[in-house]
Amino acid sequence: MKGVPLNEELYNYIVSTFAKEDDILKQVVDQAASKKFPLIQISPENGKFLYMLIKIINAKRVLEIGTLTGYSSIWMARALPEGGKLTTLEINPDHAEEARKNFKNAGLDNKIELILGSAMESLNKLLSEKFDFVFIDADKTGYPAYFDKVIGVMNKGGLITADNTLRDGDVVKENADEGTKAVQVFNKKVANDQRVESLLVPISDGLTVCWVK
Ligand SMILES: C[S@@+](CC[C@H](N)C(=O)[O-])C[C@H]1O[C@@H](n2cnc3c(N)ncnc32)[C@H](O)[C@@H]1O
Repeated sequence: MKGVPLNEELYNYIVSTFAKEDDILKQVVDQAASKKFPLIQISPENGKFLYMLIKIINAKRVLEIGTLTGYSSIWMARALPEGGKLTTLEINPDHAEEARKNFKNAGLDNKIELILGSAMESLNKLLSEKFDFVFIDADKTGYPAYFDKVIGVMNKGGLITADNTLRDGDVVKENADEGTKAVQVFNKKVANDQRVESLLVPISDGLTVCWVK
């Protein structure tokens, strides 16, 4: 195996050098903890990586599936140029309410639109739009269907990304849970789909990145 396995010291070096959270992002996490929301937001380096990808491809239209309380949305919306817009889909009204507060507090409520409801139903209403960048981070069992849906609304040169694709290492197991089985299907699907070039990037819990030809 090539590469340097991460230890605590190396990890902290990367985050403190390249992906420091400002007070707004820290507050999103602190508030989520004090209000007992699940602490399943992406890691800071993953946030910075999504930010970088959006900047690199000069994405103007971003779609997120799975908002939670808005931590990843804030990282991504900050990468958007003037006039850019992020649409984020969330099924849980409590998560959505907290996320909306956080977007306002971050001064990003003009750039972020949150649609409350089941992601698949919301996606069906967004099919007339085109997106440059998609981040999938909701129910894992939905990943293959989300890909099938969004591939039809992507601009050429856009990116479809999906979080937790290492599944804490379980992605290689045969007797995996339903979520992991769906991620296995998703990874195999995007690795073999001729419309995209894909790679599972081993950042955090794994981020699969698909470049749309
Ligand atoms: C892992 S969290 C998202 C974390 C967020 N992207 C972040 O990093 O800050 C997953 C979110 O997806 C939402 N979710 C789960 N199933 C969903 C569905 N079918 N449609 C829309 N949202 C869903 C959950 O309520 C939860 O808030």
